[in-house]
Amino acid sequence: MTDDRLKLAIQKSGRLADESKKLLEQCGISFVKSKDQLFCKAQNFPLDIYFVRDDDIPAFVASNVCQIGIIGQNVLYEEKNSPHGETLKDVKSVFKLGFGRCRLSLAVPHDFVYDDIKSLEGKTIATTYEGLLGAYLKDKGITCKIVKMQGSVEIAPRIKMADVVCDLVSTGSTLAINGLREVETVLESQAVLVRNGALTDTQKELLERLLLRIKGVSTAQSSKYIMLHAPAASLEAIKSVLPGAESPTILKLQGRDDVVAVHVVCNEGVFWDTMEDLKAKGASSILVLPIEKMLE
Ligand code: PRP
Ligand code: ZN
Repeated sequence: MTDDRLKLAIQKSGRLADESKKLLEQCGISFVKSKDQLFCKAQNFPLDIYFVRDDDIPAFVASNVCQIGIIGQNVLYEEKNSPHGETLKDVKSVFKLGFGRCRLSLAVPHDFVYDDIKSLEGKTIATTYEGLLGAYLKDKGITCKIVKMQGSVEIAPRIKMADVVCDLVSTGSTLAINGLREVETVLESQAVLVRNGALTDTQKELLERLLLRIKGVSTAQSSKYIMLHAPAASLEAIKSVLPGAESPTILKLQGRDDVVAVHVVCNEGVFWDTMEDLKAKGASSILVLPIEKMLE
């Protein structure tokens, strides 16, 4: 008998681990994980969750131990560019999750004279991302020596192991502390949901259900519910500055003909300058509320 539960691989610990677990919780999936446990069964959804090292997630999904996974594009594309990349051809990204944003960048010591990519010709570059860097340099027609390191790449120039580094950057503080300057972006990355091509019909349905919830969570996070009072005369001007708004609900205020209440969902970021703009156009009592879930 085949097991029709859907199996998901997520990172055990590291940059995506907490956000991946949080996403599942926001999707209403509850699970109890004890320490050092490889996998656990969700209690209220036919989903088994495997906790693994992020580099291993593509192989887990490729071999159908898991049908889906949450992984950084940096890891996915690095594995696809590695010598065994061919085995991962059926592992495809299905949804960008919007967290775990970082970039893979080339960085040089402050005394390195850098004009453009040609300044790297013949240099030694330390990186964990051999596959991605190799493909990038080949595309640019530059020949370098690549030194593969598993971690602490940022110290390579100081200990004279390399002239240049190619590493992940998120806040930039690791580079700054190590006297390195970012010069080129090799890849922009964020977490994605991946799947293989071996899902049973039941698993496909489960993935659809899960995706609907994930999309609901991520649209809700970027959306806000706005309530404000608008002078009837400036209603059109106010509507024009509401970011990504659908048609608003206009409500009458008791005993007032000159002012209306406007309620609307905005699908884009609502920042202080948006609010100042609304106020300048005559809006008052402006409230911006978070939305927890949304099903369209
Ligand atoms: C990455 C990268 C840097 C750091 C950059 O390491 O290798 O060390 O993050 O982040 P920052 O720009 O915010 O300083 P990661 O935490 O992914 O783990 P690692 O130890 O495996 O390199
Ligand atoms: Zn690091």
